[in-house]
Amino acid sequence: MEAIRVTDNVYWVGAIDWNVRNFHGYTTPRGSTYNAYLMTGEKNILIDTVKRPFLDQLISRISSVMDVKDIDLIISNHTEMDHSSSLLEMQELTGAKVLASRKGKEALALHYPELDVDTVEDGSEIQCGGKTLKFINTPMLHWPDSMFTYIPEDKLLFSMDAFGQHYATNARFDDEVDQGILFQEAAKYYANIIFPLGSMVLKTLEKASELDIQILATSHGVIWRKNLPQILKAYTDWASGVTREKAVVVYDSMWGSTATMAMQIADGISSQGVDVEVLKLGETDRSWVIKEILDARAVVVGTPTINNTMFPTVADMVFYMKGLRPKGRIGAVFGSHGWAGGGTKAVREQLEATGFELPLEDLQIRYIPQEDEKEKCREVGRKIAELIKSSD
Ligand code: FEO
Repeated sequence: MEAIRVTDNVYWVGAIDWNVRNFHGYTTPRGSTYNAYLMTGEKNILIDTVKRPFLDQLISRISSVMDVKDIDLIISNHTEMDHSSSLLEMQELTGAKVLASRKGKEALALHYPELDVDTVEDGSEIQCGGKTLKFINTPMLHWPDSMFTYIPEDKLLFSMDAFGQHYATNARFDDEVDQGILFQEAAKYYANIIFPLGSMVLKTLEKASELDIQILATSHGVIWRKNLPQILKAYTDWASGVTREKAVVVYDSMWGSTATMAMQIADGISSQGVDVEVLKLGETDRSWVIKEILDARAVVVGTPTINNTMFPTVADMVFYMKGLRPKGRIGAVFGSHGWAGGGTKAVREQLEATGFELPLEDLQIRYIPQEDEKEKCREVGRKIAELIKSSD
């Protein structure tokens, strides 16, 4: 397998995982890549490794440029195992020292006690063949250990997980792929992994703004070399909680009544010129729902009542969303029940705990919505649209 040149002496030597469909609970229908990079010269430096089952790809790509045994240093920007689980083998093979942040050394010791690791301080630099590698701590983006490595001479930032996409492709650069798919995958990645870390993202973007960057070499998906302003602007917006006039109606249904309510509410929202996305749980996984919530100003959740509480698929989604902590959203709740309610109340409690504002009463109907109840649903939809527009 071949290395791909990024600059005169920096190569992509990572792995393409075409088949991964679940990345610790996040669905990845387009697979992923584990990006590692090699800088050759006076010293040969490997920046990160790959998930252990892909070690052969890493070795093969490095070997297309140089003898693997000639690697002098390995930089570990992040301890999560999709990047670190080949470190031990690479150290055994090369004898190279591993460099990590202080928190990185701490975390690596808890993963691979035998690994020999030296620490690098925030802002410290090493020189190598006329080039500089500068280390920039980015704690909690998205682990305490995370750091960026920057080469000012190449205007190249190894940004670790930040700006990544779970997107397996034979293309290595952002200008070589479909832009719609690229930004959709970047948004899904942000929503599922980075959503709760907005304030850390803004701090990191501030640090990054002091650097002259022309290439953002992320650890997943394609390398950004053309659309940097667009992805940086997208991260700024997402981290600042910028939303648009859009509602997500997300629901599940036992016998079709809550589904009917969802369609009527969506119709009411849409009638006021507000975008609406209708997603049925069970058919749509939570990773996609969260991606749709990323730019939505309102989240409208529908559940039937089962055993006096919400439906299990709805519970899965609202708990997942609570962990990701979307801020500044309007919430609303609806659902059908038979003899005793409880579903909408349970959802409301979770949405309140997530920090949503819930200005409307929950909309509940018994059994099957009749014409007058359908009209009530449309009316609620219209009210949600007004709330969205008035919170511009
Ligand atoms: Fe791609 Fe946080 O690991």
